[in-house]
Amino acid sequence: MSASASRLSPDDDRKLDALLQQVRKARETEMGYPTNADFDYSRLMPFLEFPLNNCGDPFVPTRFRLNTHDFEREVLKIFAQLTAFPLHESWGYVTNGGTEGNMYGLFLAREMLPTGIVYFSEDTHYSVPKILRCLNMRHIMIRSQPDGRMDLEDLRETLRLHRDVPPILFANIGTTVKGAVDDLHGIRKILRDFAIHQHYIHADAALSGMILPFVDHPQPWNREAGADSISISGHKLIGSPMPCGVVMARKAFVDRIARSVEYVGTLDTTLSGSRNGYTPLVLWYAFKSLGLEGFRNRIESCLDMAQYATDRLNELGRHAWRNENSITVVFDKPAEAIVRKWQLATERDIAHLITVPHVHKEQINGLIQDLRREAS
Ligand SMILES: Cc1ncc(COP(=O)(O)O)c(C=O)c1O
Repeated sequence: MSASASRLSPDDDRKLDALLQQVRKARETEMGYPTNADFDYSRLMPFLEFPLNNCGDPFVPTRFRLNTHDFEREVLKIFAQLTAFPLHESWGYVTNGGTEGNMYGLFLAREMLPTGIVYFSEDTHYSVPKILRCLNMRHIMIRSQPDGRMDLEDLRETLRLHRDVPPILFANIGTTVKGAVDDLHGIRKILRDFAIHQHYIHADAALSGMILPFVDHPQPWNREAGADSISISGHKLIGSPMPCGVVMARKAFVDRIARSVEYVGTLDTTLSGSRNGYTPLVLWYAFKSLGLEGFRNRIESCLDMAQYATDRLNELGRHAWRNENSITVVFDKPAEAIVRKWQLATERDIAHLITVPHVHKEQINGLIQDLRREAS
């Protein structure tokens, strides 16, 4: 039976309809996770008819032509600009999300410095210890400050004890829970103080990698600030119907791991073989339709909305705060029913909301109303 002749049973049809209603409703009250739902990619619908697959290196032609490598390269050129990677020394690809980009950065780091020790803070995303287990890399967790940034005194003392081993710094450019940006200048100063010349810095800029390029006073975070590789999520601030991201890396390092593969007639430089061919189109469309100026305006609105939420929450005495240039608003954890209704993220006694573009005053006011009711 061909695909066009296949039919769902009425029961299965109803099941899909119910799911559609469920996700439509869920979208209205989603505030805790960095997943922008404000997008319209209907222009790209016709491409869902094709098994697009970007298998292989986006910069090397492959025999399989149902791909979007041309668009992927355009996206990577934009990200090279956003991350201050000079084009001639940069390489990258569209990943499945921030986690894959972090794994890629750490993989490169391990290939460059096989005996290296990875240093990361206790506020680092939960997937990183798992990646380090997969890659079998030695690692040491560094304390965090209350605002979520890596405690550089603890880093200094730890590095002092391991000066003979090349360090691999895993820097959080916007921590998951508090949106804190690790102090890259401070980290590099410690490396200089100890005359440690051989090192690798990976920047996990999952969310803030799409904020910092557009603000007037960004914290140091990009290639210019010393990052050897950078991972950014695509579905977080940009928004995408499928998870995606981008990893940028130094081309010279990637050349060290590249292997030629006869089967697909290209270079095997990416982590996964088959890769999503649709998400590069999504990212391309987002940049082309909104433009960098459009993103700048969008991010300004998101930051204003974060401040609005912080002020309203503080009027209720919920101890709200946010880090500089962050759209993550941290506050006292409310009752479980409110956490569930607004899909807030929690950790111990705090909760956060993240003002990605689909979060408007109506939702924030709705949360405030619920919190007021809880208090009375
Ligand atoms: C700081 C940070 N790193 C990595 C990730 C993982 O990114 P992804 O969900 O795109 O794999 C997240 C996700 O929230 C994050 O906040």
